[in-house]
Amino acid sequence: MKLTDLYMYLRGDIHRIETEMGGAVSEVSPVLEEATLQLLEAGGKRIRPVFMLLGAKFGNYDIQKLKHIGVALEFIHMASLVHDDVIDDSNLRRGKDTVKAKWDNRVAMHAGDYLFGKAISRVALFEEQGIHETMSRSMHEMVLGEIEQIRFKYAWDQNVRTYFRRIKRKTAVLIAGSCNLGAQAAGVPRSEQRSLAFFGHQVGMAYQITDDILDFTSSEEKLGKPAGGDLLQGNITLPVLFAMEQSPSFKKELRQAFADGAPSKGKMDELLEKIKASGGIDYAREINARYLQKAYQSLEALPDIPARRSLYDIAAYIGTREH
Ligand code: FPP
Ligand code: MG
Ligand code: MG
Repeated sequence: MKLTDLYMYLRGDIHRIETEMGGAVSEVSPVLEEATLQLLEAGGKRIRPVFMLLGAKFGNYDIQKLKHIGVALEFIHMASLVHDDVIDDSNLRRGKDTVKAKWDNRVAMHAGDYLFGKAISRVALFEEQGIHETMSRSMHEMVLGEIEQIRFKYAWDQNVRTYFRRIKRKTAVLIAGSCNLGAQAAGVPRSEQRSLAFFGHQVGMAYQITDDILDFTSSEEKLGKPAGGDLLQGNITLPVLFAMEQSPSFKKELRQAFADGAPSKGKMDELLEKIKASGGIDYAREINARYLQKAYQSLEALPDIPARRSLYDIAAYIGTREH
């Protein structure tokens, strides 16, 4: 089962949002146009617009209005990835050269900023104060998440709470915001807006925990981006935090291995094996399952319409995804 099979009935509306995105970037400078078109063609799961549309299904669903929020969400997401690839020095995403690899960091910086600007211009079409608040909060929280990730690089003494705060900010807030924005734009009652946002938060946390697990268990071929890079780059994720908590001597070993810069390939393989053997991956999977369970529970407060089933199915898919 593919993810897109889970929301076939939204395909037309997602296509509409994609067409709108293409139109929005067609009048730019040649280099920006090429860079942004490459980003659009690289595709992606469009998971944020999907969550937004599903949130709107609980109220007055008007695609003419919703499409603008869909464009804004996907542009914000794309822009954040273009910038993230600069920060992480990543050359491959979705099986293609990143903007920073194909051009350079300066072009990536401008391509990201350009998309942010385009996103804001869509949000400006709305009068609802809440929509502006949710959108801007999502953006500044993402920046805080990335800043925290930089601050806590190679910080072997950090506790697990800093990890959860970081992934909440960098990933879960925008996914929660997506669910909530669709609901706001469709005039869904407040209590249901809250349930949708809560659902998005839990799913967003699970999404990033899964991403962090896949970095250990998957391959470049499957992911379309290099695997195994988190630890090497000092990004300390849940499996590593678990392994360090289990064994103070392993924590010491990690600290020493990175004391003089990047460890050798042989040493890295040894460290990765130890993390796997510690049960850290299983632990992360357990936490992931708990978040998903809470996500399912938050759906119970919502009316039983087909969109609720789709949200459930997508959450379940996210928990088992392999790329
Ligand atoms: C990918 O994480 C990156 C993010 C989820 C967020 C990136 C956010 C920014 C660059 C801040 C700027 C954003 C705004 C909205 C102004 P990752 O590096 O763990 O995942 P990857 O393996 O896919 O690169
Ligand atoms: Mg990153
Ligand atoms: Mg990255």
